[in-house]
Amino acid sequence: MSLSNEQRVELPVVEAPEHPARRVFLKAAAGAVGCVYAGMIGYPVYRYLESPVEKAAAAAAVSEVSLPKADALPPGSALMFKFGAGPALLIHQKDGSWSAMSAVCTHLACTVQYEPERDRIFCACHGGVYDPKTGANVSGPPPRPLDQFKVAVGAGSVTVTRG
Ligand code: FES
Repeated sequence: MSLSNEQRVELPVVEAPEHPARRVFLKAAAGAVGCVYAGMIGYPVYRYLESPVEKAAAAAAVSEVSLPKADALPPGSALMFKFGAGPALLIHQKDGSWSAMSAVCTHLACTVQYEPERDRIFCACHGGVYDPKTGANVSGPPPRPLDQFKVAVGAGSVTVTRG
């Protein structure tokens, strides 16, 4: 059924009322969400792009690490600890002597492990082997020894110093 022109009723156009408070709130909320997203994306990018020179400088700034209670480490065992930005090994040798060295493989920078049962430091990435006393590269692809640290054993702690 269709309506004739006389039957059509013109309805008044009702405009939506303005809500300035809502508009301000929505703008502020959108800005806050944008800031949160920018931070979530920007911070990891910043960390990724942080200069390797700055990282090396921060790592080099650490020249000594004190390891509380490490003097109780039994002979034939090792303690992995952080020296600056990188992992390091403190080894109490079976003969009672101590050694400490970087645990970063000199080949492609994997983290090495002390294997007391085989009396060696081993890099599982490509089979690199190091001497646990001297850190010398014994076999496999590592091109040079592990970086050595000085060890001072005291009562209740062990202090490891960059050599
Ligand atoms: S990274 Fe250690 S042997 Fe390749």
